[in-house]
Amino acid sequence: MLLLAAAVIGYLSGSVPYGLLLTRAAGLGDIRQIGSGNIGATNVLRTGNKKVAAATLLLDALKGVVPVLLLTALWGREAGLLAGLAALIGHVFPVWLGFKGGKGVATGAGVLLAAAWWLGLVCAVIWVVMARVTRISSASALTACAAAPVIALLTGDWMLAGFAFVLAAIIIARHHENIRRLLAGTEPRIGRKT
Ligand code: G3P
Repeated sequence: MLLLAAAVIGYLSGSVPYGLLLTRAAGLGDIRQIGSGNIGATNVLRTGNKKVAAATLLLDALKGVVPVLLLTALWGREAGLLAGLAALIGHVFPVWLGFKGGKGVATGAGVLLAAAWWLGLVCAVIWVVMARVTRISSASALTACAAAPVIALLTGDWMLAGFAFVLAAIIIARHHENIRRLLAGTEPRIGRKT
């Protein structure tokens, strides 16, 4: 029963579409009609408004951080991890948007940071290095996602490795269109629309 409650709390936290709400509030239109159509910070940046993009990144990450920390403190590690997974699922499949949500990078990063801060930090560094080299957000996220379970595995923490694997699998699966564009060489650089 506690685990079910943890999952519901995590899902509700993750399901708030901050990118959509903030761009609307800032008068930037419907983010789903702009650029890639994704509700995440990378696409919000394509509106040209860096502050709204930064706020989206922060809030999307926090909606992953908060349920993990809260539920871990209340009911232990399993409840915290389940809440984190549910937060990612809430972001990717939000009931409020007909289950058509984002790709989960910022929320997944927040979940990972809260579950194992060092692993979240290493993945964030991988993202930043890849972004500096490639200037492509999706390629950076895909690399960090692929690395997360492997790095966790090296520590011998099987629960963390399995958790990181599931998070990464969901996020990578959500990037199928980006992967197609990357292979075709048509994926836009950070901040560019095309
Ligand atoms: O954070 C999502 C990013 O990896 C890709 O976003 O808008 O380029 O599809 P986008």
